[in-house]
Amino acid sequence: MDYLLNNLEYKDKYRLLTNCIVPRPIAWVSSISKDGIYNAAPFSYFTGISIEPPLVLFAVERRNGEKKDTVINIENTKEFVINLVTENNIEQMNETSKDFEFGEDEIKMSGLTAVPSKYVKVPSILESPLHMECKLYDTMEIGSSPHSLVIGEVIAVTVNDEMISDGRIQMNALQAIGRMGGKWYTKTDHLFELERLDWRKSELNE
Ligand SMILES: Cc1cc2nc3c(=O)[nH]c(=O)nc-3n(C[C@H](O)[C@H](O)[C@H](O)COP(=O)(O)O)c2cc1C
Repeated sequence: MDYLLNNLEYKDKYRLLTNCIVPRPIAWVSSISKDGIYNAAPFSYFTGISIEPPLVLFAVERRNGEKKDTVINIENTKEFVINLVTENNIEQMNETSKDFEFGEDEIKMSGLTAVPSKYVKVPSILESPLHMECKLYDTMEIGSSPHSLVIGEVIAVTVNDEMISDGRIQMNALQAIGRMGGKWYTKTDHLFELERLDWRKSELNE
């Protein structure tokens, strides 16, 4: 079967791409409006793009032609936090993807607890064990849809101590969730190691 993207409708392109780009990490983004109202929402068009500076990127489409609350908030306050989605908070993550009215505290309404972050004014989500505190680096509008690319510089990562052993975050302890196509998600409870064949001593993964 061949799919020619130019022949597909918007929703079919979306469905195809999100079925192909799997599994995707989920940026569960907390933000704050210029009036101080808390917001949270998941975005799975998400990746890291650079180490120096340490940059992450997520892409947000329009809702009925309007920017989503997360983008409006980040453009106003220049800060956000990415909270890790895990087996323990997946239902609440899903709650925060609902179309709340602008100005509603989505963290509270989803049964979540906002806790102060250490380096940004935006709160972190207590029910998540790992937080990436970010300052806005840049935004960009792409395509005719259009989508907002939000690029953040990671200022600090805070991780629950029980996730750390030998100075490293324990991948098995995180119980991170990935997003597949449609309603499908994946757990990360079946991890395995694979040695890099051309690994050089000076490289990053020592
Ligand atoms: C797992 C998951 C991943 C999502 N990923 C994206 C995404 O990458 N881009 C996007 O625009 N919307 C995405 N959504 C939808 C948004 O989370 C949803 O529109 C949300 O209401 C936006 O909230 P806000 O208006 O408070 O920013 C995703 C939803 C779920 C459940």
